[in-house]
This record gives sequence, C-alpha cells and structure tokens, in this order.
Amino acid sequence: MYNFDKIVNRKNTNCYKWDSLKTKYPGVEDIIPMGIADMDFEVCDEIEKAFKERIKHPVYGYYYDINSDLAPIIYERYKNKGYDIELDDIVVGTGVVYIINHIIRTFTEIGDKIVLPAPYYTPFGAVIENNDRIILPCEMKLVDGVYKTDLSSIEDQIDQSTSMFIFCNPHNPTGRVFDNDEMLEVADFCQRHNLLIISDEIHSDFALTKPFYPLININEFAKYNTFTVSSCTKTFNIAGIKVAFCMISNPELREKYIKYAKHSGLGDVNSFGIEAIKAAYLKGQRWEEEMLEYIRGNRAYVLDFFKKNLPDIKVNPSEGTYLLWIDFTGSGKDINDIQKILINDCKVELNDGLAYGGYSGFARMNLALPRCRLIEACNRIYSVFK
Ligand SMILES: Cc1ncc(COP(=O)(O)O)c(C=O)c1O
Repeated sequence: MYNFDKIVNRKNTNCYKWDSLKTKYPGVEDIIPMGIADMDFEVCDEIEKAFKERIKHPVYGYYYDINSDLAPIIYERYKNKGYDIELDDIVVGTGVVYIINHIIRTFTEIGDKIVLPAPYYTPFGAVIENNDRIILPCEMKLVDGVYKTDLSSIEDQIDQSTSMFIFCNPHNPTGRVFDNDEMLEVADFCQRHNLLIISDEIHSDFALTKPFYPLININEFAKYNTFTVSSCTKTFNIAGIKVAFCMISNPELREKYIKYAKHSGLGDVNSFGIEAIKAAYLKGQRWEEEMLEYIRGNRAYVLDFFKKNLPDIKVNPSEGTYLLWIDFTGSGKDINDIQKILINDCKVELNDGLAYGGYSGFARMNLALPRCRLIEACNRIYSVFK
C-alpha cells in the first residue's frame, strides 16, 4: 500500500542528511547520503492527516497537561510490546538525548564515571563529556560473529565515582539485539556496583531477526533502577518533530526526575509532537509493518551483495535498527583513507566509525532509503573496492 521506492527530494529543506553535504564535502557532487539516522521515506498518511487536522485550529499556545493526554497511548503501546510498566511510570519529554542529558545531570555528579559499551552512539559520549562526567568505555567484541559486551574487562576500573551505565538496545551502531542472559549480566553488574541504568530503547520497534525484550523486565533490580528512554520518532521517521518519553518504575527516582525537569523545558512537547504520537501509535500500524518489511529487504540486499562481491569488507548482520556496522579494515586500503575514498571516489556517505568511540576503518550505513538508491550505493562501493 505504501510506496517506499518513491524518491523524495529532500534537498533545500534544511535537512541535515542532504543539505549538509555541500558544506562537509565542498566540490564533491552527487553523494548518496547514508549517514545520519533518519529515513528518506515519506511520513505515513495518518500522521500527515493528523497534522492537517491540527492546523485547522489557528492557535499554538502552551499546553495544560500533555502527560495525561499522551501517557495512556504510550502505555498501551509499550504494554503490548511486553513492557512491565504502569501508566504512572511514563513521563513525556522533548527528545531522547535531551532526557538522557537531564538524567545524567540529575543523578550523577561532576567527575563521575559512566559505563558506556563501545562503539557507542556519538551523542552518548557527548552528553557525558559536556557535563564533565567521564566515559568509561566497555569495548564490545565479536564472539562467534556477534558483538558482545565483556563487562569483566572493566571490572577493575569501577570505583566509588562510577555511578551509571548507559545501555542501548537494539544497539546503535552495531545493530545488536541483546539476549536475556546478556541483559541479566548487565543488571547484575550494575547491582554489584550500585549503578543506575539508562536504557535507550528508541530502536526497539526495529527488532529485525529476533524478538526484543525490555531491560526492565529482566529482574527487580533492573525494573527499579532503570530509566528507559524511547520515542516514536525513529520508527515513524519524524525525528524533526522532537518528542520522546521516559519510563521510570521507581517512584523515588521518578519524583526526583520530575522535580528537576520542572521549568527546564524538558516536559514540553510541540503541538505536532502531540499529534504525531497519537497518530503514529493509534493509526500507523500498517505503515510501520510495511516499512519494517522494506528495511528487512534492504538489509538482506546489502548483506548478500557484500558477501558475494566484497567478502573482505565485513558487514555485521545487524539484528535490529536500520543501521549496519561495517568493517573496512580488511579492504586492502589504508584505514585512515576509507572515509576519503567513500566520499571522493564512491560518492557514498557512511558515518565514520571514528565518531563512535574511535573506530577507524569502520563505518555505519543507514539502510532507510529507496532500494534503487541503495543498489546504486552498493555498486559505487563495489566499483572502487573490488
Ligand atoms: C540510540 C539513539 N538514541 C537517541 C537518538 C535520538 O533521539 P532524539 O532525536 O529524540 O534525541 C538516536 C537517533 O539516531 C539514537 O540512535
């Protein structure tokens, strides 16, 4: 019913993915951007209709009680996804990264160490360091072809100043969807070291090859010590709308979170964010299902293409997200040149692995684009790396 093959021209809309290319790569034309994590797909009709309905009322003033309006809808959605939550656990906010920033400022101290599996989503590192906290990276390693977090490798670096763990599932950038036994290890580790947990589950609708389980369901400790952050914005491609939410089952943590969020602007959601959540979660199911099928198809295409044509470039078969983590270190090129080659010779933009905690020679590919463009990008990479 929905046409994800359609080419939508996003140029000249102040769009990061397309309009930043000129500035970042002056003089290089015709790049296919597959970096930043939004989709080149049109928004679903139901969300567009809801926006049109909203603009029939010509005033966009302050709202009275956004949480009571939206929490029941979010609750239903997440309850159906299997989350062990209550309605009261949900606190609506402006954006996932903004919420994480607030949690770090409210629940840790300057100089604290925060455990962060690496490679990591760039803003996690930025919010930790911008708040004068310290990243304690825990490198994820390939075990039988699967990226796993080896917590024992950082055990001796944990001390009194270590206060938090940022977990991300499905994991950006590796696309890992963690198994229950691994999540239990995370929960036990955090319990042993008295760490609060932020679990960023914004990609949880993108469990592509296996079921997704929320961290809070793992055990009592996880339930009462985790801030789960999520949003409808990845799934429904409305990142520019800025809306998100946090689920906090521990009443004391929730009270403190709300107290310090008050008058910080964090509880505010714009008029269209309110409409977006309602339309996405109440009416967007069909679009979502079809979009996920399309992403699965794109993923399968790339995995097959590289395996057959470029076997020395290792594409990690992501279990979730619409991202692929790619290892170019065996490609035969100097790892410091990979980005230049991708841009200047292939004219394909992938996000540089350096930005994910220093992974030179790695890159993150965004699969959420029309298939014909994806095929063109793969062919371009092949023509240079073959
Ligand atoms: C893991 C993760 N968290 C958060 C975000 C961004 O969320 P927001 O735009 O609500 O800050 C992204 C976007 O790519 C993401 O991948």
